[in-house]
Amino acid sequence: MPLPICCLNGAYLPLSEARVSPLDRAFLFGDAVYEVVPVYAARPFRLREHLERLDRSLAGIRMAAPLSHPDWARLCQELITRNSAHDAYLYLQVTRGAEFGRNHAWPENLTPTLFGYITALEPLSPLIVEKGVAAITAPDTRWARRDIKSTALLANILLKKISADAGAFETILLENGELTEGSSTTVHVIKEGIVQTPPNGHHILPGTTRDVVTDLAAGLNLPCRSARIAEANLRDADEIWLAFSTRGILPVTTLDGAAVGTGKPGPWFKRISGAFHDYTKALAGTPAL
Ligand SMILES: Cc1ncc(COP(=O)(O)O)c(C=O)c1O
Repeated sequence: MPLPICCLNGAYLPLSEARVSPLDRAFLFGDAVYEVVPVYAARPFRLREHLERLDRSLAGIRMAAPLSHPDWARLCQELITRNSAHDAYLYLQVTRGAEFGRNHAWPENLTPTLFGYITALEPLSPLIVEKGVAAITAPDTRWARRDIKSTALLANILLKKISADAGAFETILLENGELTEGSSTTVHVIKEGIVQTPPNGHHILPGTTRDVVTDLAAGLNLPCRSARIAEANLRDADEIWLAFSTRGILPVTTLDGAAVGTGKPGPWFKRISGAFHDYTKALAGTPAL
């Protein structure tokens, strides 16, 4: 559930009362970028990495960064404090702003709209931890700059809805016979004790949780490689993990109805998931930036 106080253009106000213009380019064109930052024990997690990605997304759509990293950190902390948030996730959005009219080519003098709010993270259902989640595959129908975290998510939401309609958790995307990512997750494939995930580039979002997996895998002596993954290797995996900010790491136990490995969360998932939990605990009380 979203928590009650949001931040709109520097003002803190009830989320239920926040208003933006229908002429805002985010509304008209999806002309905006965003970030989702996990919060564990009232501390933003990997904030620097999220803000660096936000800066790259802004540069990708030819916008200047409207706030410095310390200013973003203050905004995040205000949202956490004013909402007494503990485990949660922050949503930060920057739009190109509104003009009086609708022009594809934007004028240069627009004032960006800044919006942030925070949602409490509900505890993960024990059933998911015990049984894992189902995923189905679909062709990747998105645009060519998936590394930009744009709010123009029409393809992503249509793809996610396919799995929701099928009673599955995620739609895993394939392009030219290879894995790209999930509709809102990074995908890791584990085979014979080696973790693989597709290399970053324009074709996928560089996931922040992906980098946490890489760091933690090193501590577990689990080799982790960035490599192109053929559809056949995805289907032949011992384990498949989804990594994403709002839930950390989740095991996929069926793919298109077929069991992944034993059809239960695998031994490596249990180790990486434990390491992830310990890591978030160890960071409690340390500076966010
Ligand atoms: C398309 C897509 N890929 C990957 C991810 C995972 O990124 P992160 O771990 O930074 O949340 C997301 C998260 O929203 C996403 O939307």
